[in-house]
Amino acid sequence: MNVIFLGPPGAGKGTIAALAKEKLSVPHISTGDIFRSAIKNETALGKQVKSILSSGELVPDELTIDLVKERLKEGDTSGGYILDGFPRTIPQAEALETFADIDFVINFTVERDMIIRRLSGRRIAKESGKVYHILYNPPKTAGICDITGEPLIQRDDDKEEAVINRLEVYERQTAPLIEYYTENGLIRDVDGSDTPEKVLASFLTVIDEGNG
Ligand code: AP5
Ligand code: MG
Repeated sequence: MNVIFLGPPGAGKGTIAALAKEKLSVPHISTGDIFRSAIKNETALGKQVKSILSSGELVPDELTIDLVKERLKEGDTSGGYILDGFPRTIPQAEALETFADIDFVINFTVERDMIIRRLSGRRIAKESGKVYHILYNPPKTAGICDITGEPLIQRDDDKEEAVINRLEVYERQTAPLIEYYTENGLIRDVDGSDTPEKVLASFLTVIDEGNG
């Protein structure tokens, strides 16, 4: 099953994808994670996109489309995949149609106040890739990753100014995809405001019903 996770920043796309990939045995492909990993490893791509991510703007379509097109050629995608954070613009969605068959687009809905609370409390572990929240999903020891013991950090784009910009960018460039995928019948809304376990269960029910 090939699924897109759509939704504003902080809707829980990455959190639910990390749980769902185990249940469905499919890879979780997050363009944001790919860019952050390139930045951490100081690759040519990383150098190109570092300031774009910090500001909360979008990476150019052409570059992002090529990256996803190549990633979907890898063998682990043959049994399906979760695309998290792609497409994010109409041109990306149009391009995706030329190289992928999507079964569902899951639109995670969350109120703005909750988005701000989630993003301001998010902390990440760079090495393990695990995502925490200081209140909603805290590590066993404050500030330390449960898996690697590394110190947790705040994403550059979770600082207030970048968050506000990301929400504006979402409204302007990504929210139009809801209508795009409603018109072709692929969209399914999932309330993202419940606990991760309940959001995961809603997602699994929605795709089960869609297949039935
Ligand atoms: P990306 O990494 O995709 O960022 P985003 O869309 O802004 O989404 P987030 O990762 O912030 O939110 P999320 O929905 O995954 O929430 P999470 O699960 O972490 O992209 C980053 C940047 O890369 C972009 O700004 C852009 O520059 C570039 N980029 C990426 N894709 C691109 C594309 N296609 N085109 C162009 N540029 C692109 O949860 C957030 C917090 O809430 C966490 O702390 C978590 O613990 C907590 N939480 C989550 N779910 C729950 C829950 N149910 N209950 C309680 N707490 C919860
Ligand atoms: Mg994410």
